[in-house]
Amino acid sequence: MPQLYEQIVKQALDKRKDIASADTNCFRLIDGAGDGCPGLWIDWFDGRALIQIKDENSFSIEELQELASELQAGSAYLKLLDQHQKESPVHLAGRQIEQPFCVLENGIRYEVDFMSGYSQGIFLDQRNNRQEVGTRVQIDGKDARVLNLFAYTCGFSVAAAVAGAITTSVDLSRTYLNWGQKNFQHNSLNPAQHYFTKGDVFQWLLAFARKGRTWHSIILDPPTFSRGEKKKVFRVENDYGELVHLSAQVLEPDGWMLCCANTRTHSAEDFEQQVQAGIQTAGRSILSKHFAPMPCDFPGEQYLKSLWIEVKQA
Ligand SMILES: C[S@@+](CC[C@H](N)C(=O)[O-])C[C@H]1O[C@@H](n2cnc3c(N)ncnc32)[C@H](O)[C@@H]1O
Repeated sequence: MPQLYEQIVKQALDKRKDIASADTNCFRLIDGAGDGCPGLWIDWFDGRALIQIKDENSFSIEELQELASELQAGSAYLKLLDQHQKESPVHLAGRQIEQPFCVLENGIRYEVDFMSGYSQGIFLDQRNNRQEVGTRVQIDGKDARVLNLFAYTCGFSVAAAVAGAITTSVDLSRTYLNWGQKNFQHNSLNPAQHYFTKGDVFQWLLAFARKGRTWHSIILDPPTFSRGEKKKVFRVENDYGELVHLSAQVLEPDGWMLCCANTRTHSAEDFEQQVQAGIQTAGRSILSKHFAPMPCDFPGEQYLKSLWIEVKQA
């Protein structure tokens, strides 16, 4: 078994040699079946490994420690992937991580926390989309004003702000927005020059439309399921069209949107239809669209749908 791990880790690292660089020290190191390891996912955060499994009986603790040693990580933590999504990762090997720390992605610093519960502060599968947001913002120049909905720790907002945009980040959680403000500061950006709006995206989109506020670009990257204010339930399969409809009403003429859905059960075709319907019912039409593939360190299941659209008046 150790020899097997040695080979798996070597091959996985080899496949990722174009990602790991002076500018990027966080990426997915092993992506389940995509790297020949069904049931095992490993994220790499600047020398710290987050080993993730779905079934606690699928690996013995000795096997996991052997794997951790093969990774030569300063610290290795274990997370049990769980639909209730509550527990922080637990220490497996190496140094204990007692403080949040920063990782680098395409030269941008993001704060990661292994003690923050189920999510560590950055979703690595969005790396290429964050980079593309930065590129588009540079092209937009002085028009670049970005609305980031379901902002979490404001990763997209930081990528946009580094490229010169004024950003508005909306999230239900004050804790995550505060974390987002720290991410701005880690990149020498002044959070006071940006907007951080706590509350339900659906309520805020209605309020923004009433007040006539608009943005040149909108990023939609919601969870698959959530319960917002007033206990309103959001499910990607049922409610994405409404989300796009409300967003399109605060999008400037000739603006662009990034529509993401993190779902295994929903086909790309169905998702695209929802987006299309939301745009049309808002009285707009799609000028151009394309699906972006997942980053190459995610060769496993292609669950993340990322549809970039340019929108014009109907
Ligand atoms: C999966 S994360 C989104 C990831 C994020 N877009 C990113 O780039 O990292 C889900 C986030 O959506 C927020 N959220 C869930 N439902 C919401 C709602 N109805 N209105 C505002 N925020 C919501 C949660 O608080 C959480 O921060």
